[in-house]
This record gives sequence, C-alpha cells and structure tokens, in this order.
Amino acid sequence: MKLCIIGSGYVGLVSGACFAEVGHNVICVDNNAKKVEQLRAGKVPIYEPGLEDLLHRNVAAKRLHFTTSTEEGVDGSDVVFIAVPTPPQPDGSVDLSYIEKVAREISAVLKPGQYRVIVDKSTVPVKTGEKVADTIRRYNKGGAEFDVVSNPEFLREGCAVPDLMKPDRIVIGGNSERAVAMMQKIYEPFMAPVLVTDINSAELIKHAANSFLALKISYINAVARICEASGADVEKVADGIGSDKRIGRNFLNAGIGYGGSCFPKDIAAFIAISEDLGVPFTLLKEVEKINHSQRERFLSKIRESLWVLKDKKIAVWGLAFKPDTDDVRCSVAIDLVNDLLKEGAEVTVYDPKGTEKALEFDLIKGAKVAKTPLEAASGAEALIIATEWKEFTTVDLGELKKVMHTSLIFDGRNLLNPDTVRAAGFQYTSIGRS
Ligand code: UDX
Ligand code: UDX
Repeated sequence: MKLCIIGSGYVGLVSGACFAEVGHNVICVDNNAKKVEQLRAGKVPIYEPGLEDLLHRNVAAKRLHFTTSTEEGVDGSDVVFIAVPTPPQPDGSVDLSYIEKVAREISAVLKPGQYRVIVDKSTVPVKTGEKVADTIRRYNKGGAEFDVVSNPEFLREGCAVPDLMKPDRIVIGGNSERAVAMMQKIYEPFMAPVLVTDINSAELIKHAANSFLALKISYINAVARICEASGADVEKVADGIGSDKRIGRNFLNAGIGYGGSCFPKDIAAFIAISEDLGVPFTLLKEVEKINHSQRERFLSKIRESLWVLKDKKIAVWGLAFKPDTDDVRCSVAIDLVNDLLKEGAEVTVYDPKGTEKALEFDLIKGAKVAKTPLEAASGAEALIIATEWKEFTTVDLGELKKVMHTSLIFDGRNLLNPDTVRAAGFQYTSIGRS
C-alpha cells in the first residue's frame, strides 16, 4: 500500500523503514530540511541497530522516499501516520501542539473524493483522536473524506527494529470498519497478533502499559530497600518471584531508577490524564517518588563511604539511559554525574556510545571525559557504575585496582558479582544486596 509518515524521528523513521521492508511504498515527511537531505543521502541521524541497512536497502528499492512537503506525502498515499513529538509540559501534561499543527497541515491538502486514513502513531492522551478529527474537519475547505485511527507503537530503544518487525501485538483503535480494514491490510505481512479496539481504548493502552512497566521497576526497587534492611539479596528475590509466569522476570532489575525519553514522560502524562478525567492515579505518584529517591539513596551510600565528596576524584562508567543506545535523554546516570559535580567532586566519565550526545547537548558541564574505562578510573577514589554496559564486565579488576587511588566501587545497576569484586580487594556496594 502507499503510506505517508509525518515526523521522521525515532518512531517515524523506524516505522517507515519497516513498512517499506515488508513491501509497502512509503514516503516520510519531516519539517527539518537538513534531516531530509541527510536521509536522502543515505545518512541515518539516530543510532539504532539494523536501521542503516534497512534504510539503504529500501531507498535503493525505491520503496522509501523523503520529503519536507506534507502535500506530496498526503497526495501520494492512502494512509497518513502522524509520528511527531508529544513532549511533556512542566506540569507533566502532554504538549499536543505539534499534533494539532500537523492535523491542520493535513487538512489543508486533503482533496475532495480522496478517502484517507489518518493514524495517531505518536503517544497521545486518550481522546486525542477525536480532537484530530474535529481539527481536520474544521480546517478543510470541504469534501475531504477521512477517518482517524489510533495505532500506538511499543518499540524499545536499542531493539526498535526487531520490536517492530516481530511485535508482541499490533493495536488498532478505530470506529470505522473501512479504516480498520485498511490498517489490518498494512500489518498483514508482519504476521503478528492484531488487537482491534475502539479508539479510546487503543490510546489508553500505551500509557497504561508503560506505567505498568515502570510500576514493576519501582516495586523491585522498593523491595531492594527491604532486602538491604534484612540481609536478603534482591537479585535472588527477583529470580524467585519472576519465575512465576504471571509476574515474569523482566523489568525486575533493581538499580538507580528508570529514565529515558518515554517512561518519565509517559508516567507523568498518565498522572495528568487521570487527574483531568477526575480519577487521580495516586499509585503512580508513589512509583515516581520511589524512582526519584533511588538516586538520592545511592548518593547517600557514596557519602557514607567517602564522608566528604568535595574535591574527591570520582569515576563514572555509563551516561546513556540504558545500555545499547546512544540516547541520553532523561538519563539517571547523567543526573548522578551532575549531583556529584554540584557537591564539588572531580568527575571523569566514560560511555561506549553516549558521550558524544552528552557533550553535544551540554549535559555534563564540568566533567572530564575519558576514552576508556581504565582511563576514567585512574587516580579515582571511587568508581560508580551507572549504566550496565556489557563492556564493563570485561575490565581486568587487577588493572583497575592498580590505577585507582582507593578501591571503592558503587554498582548502581548490580552489574558485577560481589564475591569476585571483593576477592580482587575492592570495597563493593550495590543495590538491594549486602
Ligand atoms: C517522539 C516521542 O519520543 C514519542 O513518545 C512520540 O510517540 C512520538 O514523538 P520521536 O520519534 O522520538 O518520538 O521524536 P523525534 O525523534 O524528536 O522525531 C520527531 C520528528 O518529527 C523530528 O524529526 C522533527 O523534525 C519532526 N517534526 C516535528 C515534523 O516533521 N513536524 C513537526 O511539526 C514537528
Ligand atoms: C520503553 C518501553 O519498554 C517501550 O515498550 C516503550 O515503547 C518505550 O519506553 P525504553 O524507554 O526504550 O522503552 O527503555 P526500557 O528498556 O523500557 O528501559 C526504560 C528504563 O527502565 C531505563 O532507564 C532502564 O534502565 C530502566 N529499567 C528497565 C530498570 O531500571 N530496571 C529494569 O528491570 C528494566
């Protein structure tokens, strides 16, 4: 089928490339001319494993095109996906101004007699679809025939391509049979379970799913505190409860808390949405509270051992919000670096992929940057592991002991094995285990 994606960022670009891969003809629209130029030249503006080949293959096969013109995109397609940002406002509610603007842009170019399906792909609050439909109707010069549906994405950074090519489920929310049938046709080649709902339910599924995942993480972080107070080991407890298929082991890893461009935004949004609807979701406020205090508790462990942080040389391994991505948006590791700098510590950081973006967005002002883990640790009085990159498990502990000034390790992601590290002569502190 002929598809148009408006907003060729992390969500739109990966979706467009995957649609082309299964044989659709896709035109990606973006209002950033530089980005469109880059994409036309085969350059990929984001790091995502597998995305580069997907783009090159489909641009070469002439199934994937890029333009800044909404008219070109809408005219040449049967289905138009909206994938522009829905950033959080300071009070946590969602800024829908990009969605509203794109709805007006689409409305201006819809022609009489051209039936179109308009799809909300971006993460939007429940009842946004109705507003998009009203806006298109209000600004259209007459005669445009269209339906609006919701089709939320569940892709995780670092594995967005497999998450899209082999999704657990496709969610399609729409009140028009014709539109839903066209959406089912788009997803036929993916051979994945398709869940068809009304539009409000589909919009709610994304916020509810992400909030549940964040709840799991704050739950295990709260259990970790009880483990610390009772001499239990949170990793063993997580294995024990996670073996129950109804609970599942994933998202039960205790640490310094969740970050990233989705969870903090989506949980704050869901709290705001529920308040707007007159049914405050107070449990999620507790999820946020536990998450924020994880980092403070970790910092106080460091203060307990170092006494004074001012003028202390501290190495931090990890800046990206999680391993296998270069994304540093809302990264707890970066917050930790800035907490230490604020207390006057001398911080040297290392990250396999995230350093460039951290410097580009000026997120670690005052920290020194090292090229290797050992370089970051040299002369340090303490080493903090803030992101669980596999690479850090391969560092030789003997070498590490030699280069550090004093041998303190604080493991914020329970990456290392306590016995091995202590046997190498380190004082080792982690989360939820002695
Ligand atoms: C973002 C949010 O992270 C995600 O939760 C939401 O579901 C969709 O928007 P992402 O793809 O990460 O997803 O956003 P981003 O990487 O910033 O890309 C958005 C793209 O849209 C950018 O390339 C931007 O230039 C483009 N854009 C933005 C438009 O084409 N038109 C606009 O009006 C605004
Ligand atoms: C998440 C959802 O998983 C995805 O379905 C949705 O579409 C977008 O948001 P993402 O933000 O890319 O994906 O990362 P994810 O792997 O979910 O991790 C989010 C945060 O939780 C990270 O900061 C990670 O460090 C933290 N986390 C994750 C934990 O602290 N413990 C865990 O057990 C799992």
